[in-house]
Amino acid sequence: MTSAIHRLQTPVRSRGKSIQEQVERAIDRFFSALPEPAQLSADQRRGIITRYSAVLEGNFIYWMTGAYLAVKSNEARAIILENLHEEVRDCHPGMLRKFAMAAHAVPTDRDASLVYQDLQNVRQFIGRLSGVPIVVMMAFFEGFIQKFMAFLAELAAGQGSAEREYTDVHGVCDVAHTAGLFRALDAEMALNPPDAAANLFEGVDLLSALLQTIVQGEAQGPIRVQAAGRPSASCSC
Ligand SMILES: [Fe+2]
Repeated sequence: MTSAIHRLQTPVRSRGKSIQEQVERAIDRFFSALPEPAQLSADQRRGIITRYSAVLEGNFIYWMTGAYLAVKSNEARAIILENLHEEVRDCHPGMLRKFAMAAHAVPTDRDASLVYQDLQNVRQFIGRLSGVPIVVMMAFFEGFIQKFMAFLAELAAGQGSAEREYTDVHGVCDVAHTAGLFRALDAEMALNPPDAAANLFEGVDLLSALLQTIVQGEAQGPIRVQAAGRPSASCSC
């Protein structure tokens, strides 16, 4: 019996590992295309912080709640619930608002309209409540946020702000959150495996597009990074 379970779990773990590696490569690719903070104007620095705030302040908890509603395994639910608990208990949206205010970068209508369509695309993806693809997207998101904090803090410093609670907290806690979501992914894939033809990276691709709009604003960027370097929509894992 034990060996039968082991035979079932091994392919799930190895598929999970492959997904994790693709997510990590997508994050690395995103960061390799980031501009140097020192090269940005005050307007560009402000725009990145405002658009980041316009997206994260009101949507992170909503999307993590979508992940909670979508997963079926008890382990994934417990991991996501702990993440949500921390977000609400420590008032992470309030931390982000303080960060934006201190950097003189509170979002305006214009900032919200710039991210509107890409944001809608992610919202509609979340609304489909597909467990594994949402967990893959949120693992990518947590990994991105953790690495983005040093860049964000540098932008805020350029704006004359010394407010660091949001960036300090997320540069640390999201390391554990990312690892937790990959454990949740393994648990969910074992209990609720996606169809072989399912595109597990759809949410990562949509979120990557949104994050690039946050960074690039109105500028026509030179690249649109494909989340896992895949030319097509199908999963290669
Ligand atoms: Fe947070």
